[in-house]
Amino acid sequence: MPALLLVGRPAADALLASLKEKIAALNPKLVIVQVGDDPASESYIRQKVKSADSVGLRAEHRHLPKETDLATLLSLIAELNADPDVTGFIVQLPLPEHLHGAEPQIIKAIDPKKDVDGFGAYNLGKMFLSTEFEHLPPATPAGVIELLNFYKIAIEGRHAVIVGRSNIVGKPLAIMLLNRGATVTICHSRTVNLPEYTRQADILFSAVGKPRLIQADMVKRGAVVIDIGVSRDEEGLKGDCDFEELKQIVSAITPVPGGVGPMTVASLIRNCVRAAERQRKEY
Ligand code: GUN
Repeated sequence: MPALLLVGRPAADALLASLKEKIAALNPKLVIVQVGDDPASESYIRQKVKSADSVGLRAEHRHLPKETDLATLLSLIAELNADPDVTGFIVQLPLPEHLHGAEPQIIKAIDPKKDVDGFGAYNLGKMFLSTEFEHLPPATPAGVIELLNFYKIAIEGRHAVIVGRSNIVGKPLAIMLLNRGATVTICHSRTVNLPEYTRQADILFSAVGKPRLIQADMVKRGAVVIDIGVSRDEEGLKGDCDFEELKQIVSAITPVPGGVGPMTVASLIRNCVRAAERQRKEY
């Protein structure tokens, strides 16, 4: 049987459609802060603004020059924290090199109620408790879970193997899968004999950013493969998986582009709606 293609657009559109009414009632506002001109960020931000526009969510792009210093960025964060018209905001990563070391301090400065990226310790920590406390989860893992739900792919009792341990994808995805009853293995750059683990996966997730990392001989026949990796070469956007080979043996697989990407954007918009709902109750 040919592999089921886990295309993100219909799943993202369904999620966005379910938010439209709440957006009209709550009128939330998202601010996207960008420092510098990373080309991948430019494209992600364009997609975020376009998706927000499509559902009537106010989105504002604050673009700061590459040489912006930490004090200036922290003062903008303080301004956005205090602005009652701003529901939520994100600081697009990666930051320019001179701000890399300050990333934890920058994320910590964002009011947890407005942290719609879910990158801060408060929102990440709550996720450890249970699904009910996944209030503002990071958008990419939340989008992956939504994609599995949309295509009715069971998580409970399955062996989920994740390649990648980043704070914004691999680690929170592991917790979300654990919360849903999966048995979870996390692999990373120091894992010895990666194929030994990936071959055990009922659902394999790769979030590394290395084209052709996942080859057909590393995947169990009939497995589900979710490719979260993004890298660019002269041919364009690439995932981590050898898609043409893998699709011959797996039961379902995401394309790159067009798989997880649209889900990430829709999940960010869902977080804005959730933040607006919570803020309305609290003020
Ligand atoms: N860079 C890549 N993905 C993301 C994301 O989800 N949020 C932010 N802020 N930066 C990113």
